[in-house]
Amino acid sequence: MNEWWKHTVFYQIYMPSFCDGNGDGIGDFIGIRSKLEYLKQLGVGCVWLTPFYPSPKVDQGYDVSDYENVDPDYGTLEDFRAFVKQAHALGIRVLADVVMNHTSTEHAWFKESRSSRSNPKRDWYIWKEPVNGAEPNNWESFFGEKAWELDEATGMYYYHSFAKEQADLNWTNPEVKQAMFRMLDFWIDQGVDGFRLDVINNLSLTDCLTDNPTGPDGEQIHQYDVNQPGIRQFMRDLRTHVKRRGDIFLVGEISSDKLDVIRPYADDDLLDTTFNFNLGSMEHFTFDAFAAELGRMAREYTGEHLPTIFFGSHDMPRFPSRFGFDEAQARNLFTLLMTFRAYPFIYFGDEIGMDNYVCHSIDDARDIQGVIAYHKAKQENKPEEECLRALNQASRDHSRNTMYWSDAEWGGFSTARPWIGWQPQSIPCAEAQQKDPDSLFHYLAGLARLRTELPVLSQGDCQIECPAPQVLVCRRSMPGQKLVSVMNFSGRPVELTLEEGWSLHKTTLPGAAKLQGNTLALQAKSGAILLLNEKEEQA
Ligand code: GLC
Repeated sequence: MNEWWKHTVFYQIYMPSFCDGNGDGIGDFIGIRSKLEYLKQLGVGCVWLTPFYPSPKVDQGYDVSDYENVDPDYGTLEDFRAFVKQAHALGIRVLADVVMNHTSTEHAWFKESRSSRSNPKRDWYIWKEPVNGAEPNNWESFFGEKAWELDEATGMYYYHSFAKEQADLNWTNPEVKQAMFRMLDFWIDQGVDGFRLDVINNLSLTDCLTDNPTGPDGEQIHQYDVNQPGIRQFMRDLRTHVKRRGDIFLVGEISSDKLDVIRPYADDDLLDTTFNFNLGSMEHFTFDAFAAELGRMAREYTGEHLPTIFFGSHDMPRFPSRFGFDEAQARNLFTLLMTFRAYPFIYFGDEIGMDNYVCHSIDDARDIQGVIAYHKAKQENKPEEECLRALNQASRDHSRNTMYWSDAEWGGFSTARPWIGWQPQSIPCAEAQQKDPDSLFHYLAGLARLRTELPVLSQGDCQIECPAPQVLVCRRSMPGQKLVSVMNFSGRPVELTLEEGWSLHKTTLPGAAKLQGNTLALQAKSGAILLLNEKEEQA
């Protein structure tokens, strides 16, 4: 088996916002193809594409209306194949994002299912009778509304764990599973190298539909609608199915930010790995909590299984805004991203330091989660200012703005007005950073090369230490190779005493760190990577 994912750098492309190749203001496959060289230069070995299937886009593609085609906004199946071929020729693999928990209510399966109580596809979705004339239980959707929608024509409710236009499939029906496995085969036949599995722990529901409890702050605790019995068996079947087809990588989105919920799903018979929201989606950067989480991850993932490390995605605000990080701190974070023992994922635009898009009015909003929060606040008669605050609090548009390629109009993303508002960025554009060897882009590209080339970074053990306040040390070691990365997240210089034999390999900025004898002096918000001299190792 070729476990190529062990020494690969991943990159997430948010389909509508990466690059528009046909001038309609929406990203597409022609656009992405034109940027493959850019990705190669950055050191990317695999791209994760957010859903590109036909969709009414109520949830920007996570509401699929046809699983075996390409949405016209993004191109054609031919464009997809041409893209995969060119990516493979450059040594870049491709992950498809598959949404198996729910379909769009515009999907032909749902249209059939809702057409009558006796339709053969009725049982493909979760239909329940009203209870005392109302919803079958108290479940709320992950977007904060009721999770049941009444279908007037047949007098029953269907379940939707996200928007009401995203109906949950009934995974206890074997036909659903067969249809989904056929869909996975279809995309493997088109050349994909793996799958990102959307909200994969939501799949199995028990029949008892017990009310969910409410937490102290009035929020619903999703106890009976996720991680239900049967989910591990489903993952086992899925794994067996796809692994028969080759070295297909499986990374699951588990809807939790708790390490003890996430960790067990990465196992020999389950998924290759899962997204570690326990670290990746922290709302703020609090050094002690951050370091503690890293320490736990280093301890709990041993043997063959690695966690993921990422600081951005299409579901969370961008890290410079979230953590309040400037470029120096971004370099520290990237040092960690590429030297920690984990599969590294870069979210598009993070390599140049893009920050948040902000909605100044409801017209700027595109994300359904933000729109729902705004209207809820409106219904509660809150003043406009508070409604906008609620919108920006919930909205995932923050990181969905278009890529800042150049200083041309619309940031070089498109020749037309982009589908989402355009806001200037305070950083140099990608084109400028590509030309500047000292840019953030090149710093990350250099690290990505190290991550791919140095066996200790893919195979070595990992230990996390905090030798001084706000100073993080990541030690990697394997027989014959030792590496240490040191990141000073504090606003003041620090000096550390190291053991004999280390030499400075890379610093976050030229001159940011100096090694004299065994003393490593780091400037404020600076970091370094050191390697143990080979002769010291042998001695
Ligand atoms: C995942 C996606 C998110 C989407 C949801 C429903 O969490 O990342 O964008 O809204 O699933 O499919």
